[in-house]
Amino acid sequence: MYQGEEQAKENALLMIIFGGTGDLTHRKLLPALYHLMSEKSLSQETSIICVGRRPMDDESYRADARTSIAKFSRTGVDEAHLSDFVAHLRYRQMAFIDDQSSYGDLRSWLEEEERLYRPGAVRLYFLAVAPEHFAPIVQRLHNNHLCDRGDPMHRVMIEKPFGSNLQTARSLNNTITEALEEKQVYRIDHYLGKEMIRNIMAIRFGNSLFEPLWNHNYIDNIQITSTETLGAENRGAYYEQSGILKDMLQNHLLQMLSLITMEPPVDLMPESVRDEKVKALRSLRLFPSEGECDGIVLGQYGQGEEGGKQLRAYREEEAVDPVSLTPTYIALRAHVDNFRWGGVPIYIRAGKRLDRSLTQIVVEFKRLPGINYYKEFEGLPANLLVIEVQPAEGLYFQINAKRPGNAFQMERVELNYSQSARYHGNVPEAYEQLILEAFLGNSSLFTRWDELEYSWRFEESIENTCPKQRQHFPNYAGGSRGPEAADRMIREDGRRWWEIELPCSASDCKIK
Ligand code: BG6
Repeated sequence: MYQGEEQAKENALLMIIFGGTGDLTHRKLLPALYHLMSEKSLSQETSIICVGRRPMDDESYRADARTSIAKFSRTGVDEAHLSDFVAHLRYRQMAFIDDQSSYGDLRSWLEEEERLYRPGAVRLYFLAVAPEHFAPIVQRLHNNHLCDRGDPMHRVMIEKPFGSNLQTARSLNNTITEALEEKQVYRIDHYLGKEMIRNIMAIRFGNSLFEPLWNHNYIDNIQITSTETLGAENRGAYYEQSGILKDMLQNHLLQMLSLITMEPPVDLMPESVRDEKVKALRSLRLFPSEGECDGIVLGQYGQGEEGGKQLRAYREEEAVDPVSLTPTYIALRAHVDNFRWGGVPIYIRAGKRLDRSLTQIVVEFKRLPGINYYKEFEGLPANLLVIEVQPAEGLYFQINAKRPGNAFQMERVELNYSQSARYHGNVPEAYEQLILEAFLGNSSLFTRWDELEYSWRFEESIENTCPKQRQHFPNYAGGSRGPEAADRMIREDGRRWWEIELPCSASDCKIK
């Protein structure tokens, strides 16, 4: 709870989704809004206006929405709640790119809606459209007084990717800041809405056990992993332009890194948290821009096999160049060059079409000297703190203890907190949290422009490195652990990747 949240909850809401017939809206936004409305987290005075280019009336849009919500809701649906929910949906056909005058019509319509039914409503625009449409839509919303600069009740949520490099991100940002004040802009990184990522601050700053040790004196290294079994699927054209660096590293992975490494903020208000995240991102050591591969491994998946099924190589995916040099995998040794983290490597790895889907942060603590000198302690592993983001949500702490019995024998034991089991997997999805926070006017779960600027700067420092590695693409089989060079890199540092499978999954949890 933060200042003003109680009052903010009382506001009516006019949510306008550009891209109302698109995949994101049907898979994520409508189910998220359904849950928020059913749980009464949003005002009952809510209208959701889905804007799309296709001709369609309210009734057929509502019928499609019912199908998508039933398919993608995290809990299944309650028919009565669903009927209540779809009554809040409206569809509006609008050529929002080709016909500028359509904005004037939308304005009159919204003003009427607001005057008659939703006085004093928050106007929340969600741009679930192709990235090239972000700037023109924001400009037109501004020019047509649909979103007035400086009006805190008028807000815009913008999906990623925010630009395709530092220069295009700057130019998009310039357009946006001409139209809106920073406090009206909610740049989405959906990882910030994930429960266990939100939990990072709670774990760090809510436990006297961890925070005093959270530095180079006690931590040996940190590993951030985000792997997926999915390949580029039907997004080949987009992925060719982005690759793993722009698709995952510049945003989701660096956001996790900044939350793990930032200093404690003075309070939990959005600007205080974001100030600290920016400082961490500014401290990231850049890579020399050309040719130097030390600390970076890139990969691209080739053909593979999974459960007897043949997997296509990246170069065989739809809309992908048959000699593409786009990386689908990265392993990285990063350094946050400041007093807290000097000398602590932060290993990051992420990739598509790997052997499993896992997002996890492992903090490896230094070994105590006793571990080296007591014969009984020989070979004992380091303490590990594992924050599992998905597929299971939880926290695991690996310690060493005595095995029961007469002999003084040590063994590794696990303290395990399975959030998935405790809450039966019934936790809000990222988009629920993001929409709710934007409605309440709290921007801590959204990225501020300077965070993006430093993230792009880091991404660009890697973009042109390792040209030789790309000559050997594809360099890992689909369905495998990724390129062998990633193991070599960490082995040469005298370390290993931790492959931790939490004992609990959402469906089957036996606490050991
Ligand atoms: C998106 C990327 O931002 O995040 C996708 O564009 C990726 O390529 C996805 O698959 C991963 O998100 P999640 O929530 O499935 O981990």
